[in-house]
Amino acid sequence: MIERSGIQATRRGVLVGGSASVALTTLPLGSAEAAPAVEPPKMKVSLQVNGKQATLELDTRTTLLDALREHMHLTGSKKGCDHGQCGACTVMVNGKRINSCLSLAVMHEGDKVTTIEGLGMPGNLHPMQAAFVKHDGFQCGYCTPGQICSAVAVLDEIEAGVPSHASASLTARPQASNAEMRERMSGNICRCGAYSNILEAMHEVAGTDVAGARA
Ligand code: FES
Ligand code: FES
Repeated sequence: MIERSGIQATRRGVLVGGSASVALTTLPLGSAEAAPAVEPPKMKVSLQVNGKQATLELDTRTTLLDALREHMHLTGSKKGCDHGQCGACTVMVNGKRINSCLSLAVMHEGDKVTTIEGLGMPGNLHPMQAAFVKHDGFQCGYCTPGQICSAVAVLDEIEAGVPSHASASLTARPQASNAEMRERMSGNICRCGAYSNILEAMHEVAGTDVAGARA
């Protein structure tokens, strides 16, 4: 029994009282009627995915990743974090890589989307896919579709002279060096730690050594 300032309370009484007030606060408010279900707004979007035209009618909140995976059944792109932290969902849109979990599908009217399935398939691998196999650039493979899409786009960025945080100069042509590649691939996380093998695969495709010099 607890006794303070003339108030007497047992431990059991305090616990019962506490749970009663929790129950009260979680009850629905008064006799308010349930709001009628409202259909979420939908919109049509036409885009080209891996060379094929597709028109979808989607809830406007659908991400490009969910449109690809759930509506087009292209499950190569993976959902790791669903908020732009891991890179598993990387695809290319009009030749540039993006995190498809961070982009609404309806924003891509008329866009050309390339997923891992569009780069190559068994029997007809893209050179980057073949290099990942040759250099053991994966273990569980969950991050791999995103890594490969990113790696292809990274070499295109370097080729096009797009500078990165690791570039010594904003105007000089960047090299496909270890430093450049590591920096540009830093948004693609691999929980298996295949990073050094991924780098070897990228060098093989770029035809460069660790310093970025042409082999
Ligand atoms: S699922 Fe898109 S960044 Fe992780
Ligand atoms: S290969 Fe397993 S997460 Fe990268």
